[in-house]
Amino acid sequence: MAARLSASDGSHVVSEPHLRTVVVLAAGEGKRMKSALPKVLHPMLGRTLLGHVLSAAEPLAAERTMVVVGHGADQVRAHLAEVVPGAVAVHQAEQLGTGHAVRIALEAAPEATGTVVVLNGDVPLLRPETVAALVAAHEGERAAATVLAAEVPDPTGLGRIVRNAAGRLEQIVEQRDATPGQLEIKEINAGIYAFDAGRLRDVLGKLSTDNDQGEEYLTDVFGLLVSAGEPVAVHLAADHTETLGCNDRVELAALRRLLRDRVNERWMRAGVSLLDPETTWIDVTVALDRDAVVDQNTQLRGGSVVGSGAVVGPDVTLVDTVVGAGATVLRSHAVGAQVGPGASVGPYAYLRPDARLAEKSKVGTFVEVKNAEIGAGSKVPHLTYVGDATIGEQSNIGAASVFVNYDGVKKHRTVIGSHARTGADNMFVAPVEVGDGAYTAAGSVIIENVPAGAMGVARARQRNIEGWVLKRRAGTAAAEAAERALQGASSQVPAASEGEAIHGAAESVGSVTKAGDTATE
Ligand code: UD1
Ligand code: MG
Repeated sequence: MAARLSASDGSHVVSEPHLRTVVVLAAGEGKRMKSALPKVLHPMLGRTLLGHVLSAAEPLAAERTMVVVGHGADQVRAHLAEVVPGAVAVHQAEQLGTGHAVRIALEAAPEATGTVVVLNGDVPLLRPETVAALVAAHEGERAAATVLAAEVPDPTGLGRIVRNAAGRLEQIVEQRDATPGQLEIKEINAGIYAFDAGRLRDVLGKLSTDNDQGEEYLTDVFGLLVSAGEPVAVHLAADHTETLGCNDRVELAALRRLLRDRVNERWMRAGVSLLDPETTWIDVTVALDRDAVVDQNTQLRGGSVVGSGAVVGPDVTLVDTVVGAGATVLRSHAVGAQVGPGASVGPYAYLRPDARLAEKSKVGTFVEVKNAEIGAGSKVPHLTYVGDATIGEQSNIGAASVFVNYDGVKKHRTVIGSHARTGADNMFVAPVEVGDGAYTAAGSVIIENVPAGAMGVARARQRNIEGWVLKRRAGTAAAEAAERALQGASSQVPAASEGEAIHGAAESVGSVTKAGDTATE
């Protein structure tokens, strides 16, 4: 969009307030993080530090967003392309200071007019409302520059806001350049500013490097503007924690806890029960419905959603997983899965990408599901791997089954119909299908389709070698026990009823299956 100017009162022309440029400073290395990852890319509850800063600026709907990159520029660029594809990365080859960084950003956007908002890339707790209030105050006062300040209990390491006797901002002084008197000041520079583009450009060319670090300090812009008689302002943040920067991993952890508390408070006030907020970590990108319950030691990450009345936890991690209303997920790990309304997961389940559990289905204990649909009301209760499969409705998969999906080169699909009952300890060697209402026998390796309503049996017949232990393991405790049992049996009436025989030792006549074949609900 072309720069639009409007005459406000006829006497002077001001730029439209919405013509804004956001510049995020993210070229620094963050030495104290001691990390191969650039500091601004460290993650914190759903976004990188840089991502948090960019999202705080997002409601400004700036005309252009520029990010000054340097250390780890390729990584930062790649991340930007993902999270704010419209942002322009400006390369600062050498980190010659925050003033230098803003200077090269504006040189890359000579057409920029109106308000320029500058944000340090390492201030992740900043709220959008605070940035908006800073900009409103700046534009309302028609200031040349406005700095976001905060009163902090410990200002060590930060730039101090130095005011004159009348309380007006005089200059911003860095800790290392401050006099003992200035070090006493508890009002600090948050590293977040609003500037008028034209006046900022004028003074950026005049920055000196005559300071302890030999850098061009952006903060010196304020002193220069004051000397030139330009109006500058201070906007005080109501909540100083928003202005906290992050320099090492201890500070990162502290910021993460603060953000956790803020997010958790918001959800509790919105009607979500968090049974142990201190051990509940919810990414800022997660959504929860009213009356969802989150039990202790639970992490909800990425694009996860928890529906109304669902109970998640204790000991659950959900990543990009949608849990429907009234479902339960207990002591489990899920990534990219969908858990339908009223479904039940765990304890100790692992749902992998594209595990899709329909309404009221069940994935039980020590069950892993990947790229598979479990139909409504169907159950996979115990010790099973379901990969690349479709299971219809109201079916039951016997314990300890494996959907054998991988031939070493390609993945293949297994299809189980509705109302099927598969036996315990089955292997479904894909591609294979078990029809509606079909059964399979326990211990079967199913390599051929089982038609609807059929019983699939794929196991060797049992053979008992009578007396083997007595002969081959004579003298052992087993042999003695067997001997006692056989003597006892011979002194009793041996016959068993037909019904007992089916449940008991051997296969019934004309059948190779038993009632217990599928009984692992
Ligand atoms: C800066 C402020 C200080 C303020 C503090 C708030 C200056 C001179 N000082 O100090 O008053 O209290 O932030 O956290 O601005 N960066 C670049 N290029 C550079 C130098 C820095 O992109 O050449 C980036 C860094 O990556 C970082 C931000 O600018 O995101 C701030 O730089 P940093 O070195 O952390 O400044 P501080 O010493 O913290
Ligand atoms: Mg800093």
